[in-house]
Amino acid sequence: MVVIQNFYLYLTALVTISQSRVNNAQLLPPLNPPPENTNSDFISLANRYGFQPLQHEVTTDDGYILTLFHIPGRSKYPVLFTHGLADAADLWLLRGENSLGVTLANEGYDVWFANSRGNRYSRRHVSLDPDNNATYWNFSFHEMGYYDLPAIIDRILNETQKPSVTAIGHSRGNLMFYILGATRPEYNSKVNVMISLEPICHLTNTKPPVMTILQAVPFIDQLFNSLNITITEFLGYNSTMTRLVRAYCTYPNIGNELCLNTIIFPLFGFDEKELEPSFVNVFIYHFPAGTSWMEVLHLSQLTRKDFSQFDYGTAQNVLVYNSSVPPAYNLTLATMPFALLAGRNDRLSTLPDVGVLRKQLPNVVDYTVNRRALFNHADAVLGRHMPDYLFPDIRRVLKRYNKRP
Ligand SMILES: *[C@@H]1O[C@H](CO)[C@@H](O)[C@H](O)[C@H]1NC(C)=O
Ligand SMILES: *[C@@H]1O[C@H](CO)[C@@H](O)[C@H](O)[C@H]1NC(C)=O
Ligand SMILES: *[C@@H]1O[C@H](CO)[C@@H](O)[C@H](O)[C@H]1NC(C)=O
Ligand SMILES: *[C@@H]1O[C@H](CO)[C@@H](O)[C@H](O)[C@H]1NC(C)=O
Ligand SMILES: *[C@@H]1O[C@H](CO)[C@@H](O)[C@H](O)[C@H]1NC(C)=O
Ligand SMILES: *[C@@H]1O[C@H](CO)[C@@H](O)[C@H](O)[C@H]1NC(C)=O
Ligand SMILES: *[C@@H]1O[C@H](CO)[C@@H](O)[C@H](O)[C@H]1NC(C)=O
Repeated sequence: MVVIQNFYLYLTALVTISQSRVNNAQLLPPLNPPPENTNSDFISLANRYGFQPLQHEVTTDDGYILTLFHIPGRSKYPVLFTHGLADAADLWLLRGENSLGVTLANEGYDVWFANSRGNRYSRRHVSLDPDNNATYWNFSFHEMGYYDLPAIIDRILNETQKPSVTAIGHSRGNLMFYILGATRPEYNSKVNVMISLEPICHLTNTKPPVMTILQAVPFIDQLFNSLNITITEFLGYNSTMTRLVRAYCTYPNIGNELCLNTIIFPLFGFDEKELEPSFVNVFIYHFPAGTSWMEVLHLSQLTRKDFSQFDYGTAQNVLVYNSSVPPAYNLTLATMPFALLAGRNDRLSTLPDVGVLRKQLPNVVDYTVNRRALFNHADAVLGRHMPDYLFPDIRRVLKRYNKRP
């Protein structure tokens, strides 16, 4: 109980601090930054592993400007990577030769890396200023599925002149595709297979403290609303909140272990062999990379039994949807082939919840529970030995749906 209360206070405090409008850039330098990491981004990571990625700018129908990275290759179909919540394309490269992005690029696949609206690379809009206009942050994963993915997929298909992409997602990066398939069925034929790593959809069996935090989110939101504070961005790359997390996680001698044992492992599942303390100093300069608070609110709504569009509350729902309840997503319409790769030790995306998703999706072509019993919610992108534990499962699906050059 004490732990739960502490998490609640901790989150409230972080959100509070993150809302301060002071420019803290000078105030809070990261403590002891490993010099090679502090300015590292996708391009410098890719350069380190011998690639010169191309950078594309994609504008969505609702005006968001997204950055799409491309390491050219010659596979039968382009491979599109989609990252998780508040994450960015970087994590697909972060383990170097042991990460999926570098591995497939080295093998000659044509690989593309998406960045969702609101993250450090896609924090732009044709008319809205993310720093001064709260309307910019009026989106959740619904808009990422409905607007971002179509714009990204169409750009890739246009550039490559191929009929479809092979998609590989992590966590919320998969949820976007369930929404895409259900709300824009014409896109089902533009994805030849969607490989869902640690898929997120239903969150009714999520374990504490994630469940506790998710259930606290609406109350935190109400608290701020009652103070006339609108929370906009969440865990922005340069935000005070993220700087504090970075300072905590890199605090000399004890920060790395504290970070793992009080934040990362409780949220994602304990797997000490796959995520060593020193690696915290690497990933903490790439994750978190920012999203909207509204997305966190929508995520918290997935703890209910239904899978629906954003719930604004009865009165506002009538204005937005002409219905007191938000429309449910009809997963029967998401007919693209899905491979669901899950883990027993995933505290966020649990096997019972993935099981419900598996029943609802009409075209699940592969369902695999990772053979590593400790496989958690972060291992797919942060784990040290994924070429042993995870890549064979991915290769099996790729072999069936996408040829190597
Ligand atoms: C973060 O700050 C750096 C340095 O001030 C700047 O170059 C970068 O554009 C900022 N990123 C975001 C997402 O605001
Ligand atoms: C934010 O953008 C919206 C839509 O363009 C506009 O109606 C509103 O006035 C803007 N608000 C501010 C503070 O600029
Ligand atoms: C957010 O989007 C919804 C749905 O498109 C719209 O009804 C609402 O007015 C928007 N809110 C703001 C603050 O822009
Ligand atoms: C596709 O590419 C061509 C040029 O290569 C361009 O003229 C056209 O507008 C593009 N279409 C889309 C939908 O991006
Ligand atoms: C919040 O704003 C409303 C209307 O703008 C005002 O009536 C109310 O007193 C404000 N509440 C606080 C706590 O500032
Ligand atoms: C709103 O819903 C009502 C009842 O379902 C329907 O009769 C009406 O045509 C709808 N209005 C719009 C604008 O869609
Ligand atoms: C979902 O879509 C399927 C396929 O079109 C349809 O048969 C079914 O009635 C839909 N379900 C709902 C609740 O609309």
